[in-house]
Amino acid sequence: MARKLWGGRFRKPTDPVVARFTSSIAVDHRLARYDVVGSIAHARMLGKCGIIPQAEANRLVRGLERLLRVIEQGTFKPDPSAEDIHTQVQQMLTKLIGPVAEKLQTARSRNDQVALDLRLYCRDAAAQARKKIRRLQQALVDAAQRFRDVVIPGYTHLQRAQPVLLAHHLLAYVEMLQRDHDRLGEALARINVLPLGAGALAGTSLPIDRHFAARQLKFARVSDNSLDAVSDRDFAVELLGALSLLAVHLSRFAEDAILWATEEFGILELDDAFATGSSLMPQKKNPDVLELIRGQAGVVAGGWVSLLSVLKGLPLAYNRDLQWDKLVVFQAVDLVQGSLTVLERLIRHVDVRRDRIDRLLESDALCATDLAEHLVRKGVPFRQAHEIVGGLVLSAERRGVKLGALRLAELKRFSTLFDEEAQALLNPRRSVEVKLSWGGTSPQSVKQAIGRWRKQFGA
Ligand code: ARG
Repeated sequence: MARKLWGGRFRKPTDPVVARFTSSIAVDHRLARYDVVGSIAHARMLGKCGIIPQAEANRLVRGLERLLRVIEQGTFKPDPSAEDIHTQVQQMLTKLIGPVAEKLQTARSRNDQVALDLRLYCRDAAAQARKKIRRLQQALVDAAQRFRDVVIPGYTHLQRAQPVLLAHHLLAYVEMLQRDHDRLGEALARINVLPLGAGALAGTSLPIDRHFAARQLKFARVSDNSLDAVSDRDFAVELLGALSLLAVHLSRFAEDAILWATEEFGILELDDAFATGSSLMPQKKNPDVLELIRGQAGVVAGGWVSLLSVLKGLPLAYNRDLQWDKLVVFQAVDLVQGSLTVLERLIRHVDVRRDRIDRLLESDALCATDLAEHLVRKGVPFRQAHEIVGGLVLSAERRGVKLGALRLAELKRFSTLFDEEAQALLNPRRSVEVKLSWGGTSPQSVKQAIGRWRKQFGA
């Protein structure tokens, strides 16, 4: 059984069931690296401030650096009998350098230590997620370029609405992902605050230098209230919030792609390497990857709600309830990072079904609004124009003819203002070409958007 950091006042050993129940090592062993890195900064600070002799501080640092190498080489093994990662690191250090290791816990509690470790973890996780978002954005922009001439039906209420460029649709997700990228950056500002030196809750009577530790660990700020420092998990809530919204965006993309990959839509063709089969039906090609991404948003958002619920009503300062934070944070980070990686690859390998798309476009009145806008240009109030074209659509529908197939004479029966120009508008490609308003779907503005993104990515 690993030795505790707090055994002194107890006359009985911990019940093994309690030991197992309270242990967090199965989850927080993932903080090993951060625990050691934080401890190195702490040891240096103790030496520099003369709280322990410099020679002893150096021994602590050298021992910790050896542990860090073990962790980085991947040979670190969590000790299931340890109460948590902080206990295990302390124990390993004692084994390595002897009793001087016990000086490491000077002017520090696990309360400020675990807050520090989690902040270091979240800082890396947010930075890595941002890099992966960038790569996914690049894959989307590359796909937009690859499919730049493909026009598809755009939908509202999942009913065919107006033609849009497929590229425009893909770039909509690049916009969402940019907000996720920004949000994670904003969360980073509040993650990047040093809690170390808050002690258990009150600070310490020893002459520590928190700003020195902050500089070592590249924290932008030092927390200003020790009670807040050990009990605050807002930064983790924010990270989970940002990841939840990101996961929701990925989920919406997944849903679009799932629909598009159906025979009913037939817009996308998933690469075989990114699809799965059925154990029963030999013909099936399933979008399981996208479904997992779609469903994952629920799990990630659940983690966000979990942590909020853990925090709700907690009295100051540290309470063991907070141990649950890592479970949900690690899960959300792992899930979202996994999705970002796989989705980037899936998009790079996806193809479109041009013949199917052309048939989709032919099939109905996608360009009705363009006809109405034509009348507006001739001075007809929009409400009237809407009414006129509505009548036209109804009559075409009744006769089972497509809007695009109507002769000019037939158009003129509904308004004498219809001319050849109007008739030419009944063409999906033409329809997107004239959507020249800023942010609209014209090839011109989509091309500019691709250019802007590429510039922003430095590509
Ligand atoms: N495993 C604990 C956690 O994750 C570490 C802090 C323990 N502190 C304490 N006072 N028991 O929160």
